[in-house]
Amino acid sequence: ENQETVYSIVGEKTLHELVDRFYQLVSEHPALSPIFPDDLTETARKQKQFLTQFLGGPSLYTEEHGHPMLRARHMPFTITPARADAWLSCMAQALKETPIDEPLRRAVFERLSYTARHMINSEDKPS
Ligand code: HEM
Repeated sequence: ENQETVYSIVGEKTLHELVDRFYQLVSEHPALSPIFPDDLTETARKQKQFLTQFLGGPSLYTEEHGHPMLRARHMPFTITPARADAWLSCMAQALKETPIDEPLRRAVFERLSYTARHMINSEDKPS
C-alpha cells in the first residue's frame, strides 16, 4: 500500500490531458486519421482507462472491457511499421506538451514504444 507508481506521480488530470492532446494529433495525422473513427470521444475514454492501469493505477480498462488483449483488438486495423511510427510521433509530441518531467517522460515513451512495435501486424507497402 501507499506504493508510488508512474500513474500516482503523473496524476489523473495530466494523464487525461495527455490522451486528449494525443487524439487531437491523431485526428490530424494523414497516416492515422483514416483508420480511426471521426468521433474519438469513446476511443479517448478507453485509452484513459487503459493507460491508467498500464502506468500502475487502478484496473479501469479491465473492469469495464475485460483483459486488454491489445494485439488482438488491433487486428481489424492495418498496422504497418510506418503507422506505428506515426502513432509514436503523436505520442512524443503530446508528451512534450504535457508537464511530465524527465526521466519519467522518457520511461513512459519507451514502454509505449515497445507496446506500439508489438501492435504491428502488416508490412509497409513497397513503394
Ligand atoms: C484502439 C490504432 C497502438 C491502445 C485503437 C483503434 C485503432 C488503433 C484504429 C480503434 C479505435 C476505435 O475504434 O475506437 C492504433 C495504431 C497503433 C496503436 C495505428 C500503432 C502502433 C496502441 C498502443 C496502445 C493502444 C501502443 C497502448 C499503449 C489502444 C486501446 C484501444 C485502441 C486501449 C481501445 C481498445 C478497445 O476498443 O477497447 N487503436 N493503436 N494502441 N488502442 Fe491502439
